[in-house]
Amino acid sequence: MKKRILFTGGSGKAGRHVVPWLIEAGYEVHNIDLVPLDCPGVTNLIVDIADSGQVFNALSMHRDFPDLESGKGVQPFDAVVHFAAIPRILIKPDNETFRVNVMGTYNIIEAAVKLGVRKVIIASSETTYGICFAEGDREPHYLPLDEEYDVDPMDSYGLSKVVNEKTARAFSERTGADIYALRIGNVIEPNEYDRFPGFVEKPETRIRNAWCYIDARDLAQIVDLCIKKDGLGFQVFNATNDTVTADLTTQQLAARFFPNTPFKREMGADEAVISNRKIREVLGFKEQHNWRKYVGG
Ligand SMILES: NC(=O)c1ccc[n+]([C@@H]2O[C@H](COP(=O)([O-])OP(=O)(O)OC[C@H]3O[C@@H](n4cnc5c(N)ncnc54)[C@H](O)[C@@H]3O)[C@@H](O)[C@H]2O)c1
Repeated sequence: MKKRILFTGGSGKAGRHVVPWLIEAGYEVHNIDLVPLDCPGVTNLIVDIADSGQVFNALSMHRDFPDLESGKGVQPFDAVVHFAAIPRILIKPDNETFRVNVMGTYNIIEAAVKLGVRKVIIASSETTYGICFAEGDREPHYLPLDEEYDVDPMDSYGLSKVVNEKTARAFSERTGADIYALRIGNVIEPNEYDRFPGFVEKPETRIRNAWCYIDARDLAQIVDLCIKKDGLGFQVFNATNDTVTADLTTQQLAARFFPNTPFKREMGADEAVISNRKIREVLGFKEQHNWRKYVGG
């Protein structure tokens, strides 16, 4: 039996790569979003995640006519993957970004666990580390940026993601469900590797992303690993690729751009500043799409 996944925000930048990857890997995927995803095998429902009634219905109604006509009744979902969001500041007013992201995530997790779903994966963000959308220049407390870091963003988007991690933790504590929050790095689509020579030439333009990224297909692998790994309760995982997007070493980048920041541990010569050690060690992540595969020189 194929696992049934309810995916939110599947029509967006990350979702339109992760959803087909999951279908290819053998999952059934139902996408809920404000706009449908045109992808073979995906069923869609237009849902505003900021509306709890719509979300509860989306999780407890038929997905399409064949589902209805089967006569088997509404089948439950095995997992929920929640990506829908306002994906950064300065798209909507700050309060609207906060409202949609915080209430949307509350609504999704609440409906999922109250309807019996035992695995929820939510998109958190690199911005929780407080560097990405800081006012002016800001140095981290220490390097690498790991999952134990005392996250302290200043902006409404990063704050919404910190609140969402707390919401996830509360529902996991209350119900025992596995809820994993992915602190996703800057998402890179397969057609975006032509940006990397510029990243290498001007490392100062990538300070706010801490010279990190996640290939959208590697993000799909991480989601798949999260679906398969049961029993961890609430977890935060950084979701980044293995290496920095520069020709400088991690130590040289830190010395130049974060001169006052201490190292918590020794880091590899090109090790990602937003550490992905936990997904490698706990989930068995092995990156498939290092940027150097696609960028010559
Ligand atoms: N793109 C990145 O670099 C990046 C980095 C870190 C974290 N993230 C997070 O990853 C997730 C996916 O990001 P993305 O880049 O694909 O964003 P995106 O904006 O491209 O996609 C988000 C999707 O959510 C949908 N959506 C927005 N508001 C909604 C609502 N009220 N109800 C239902 N659907 C709604 C949009 O229609 C869109 O399809 C988001 O949670 C984002 O915050 C993204």
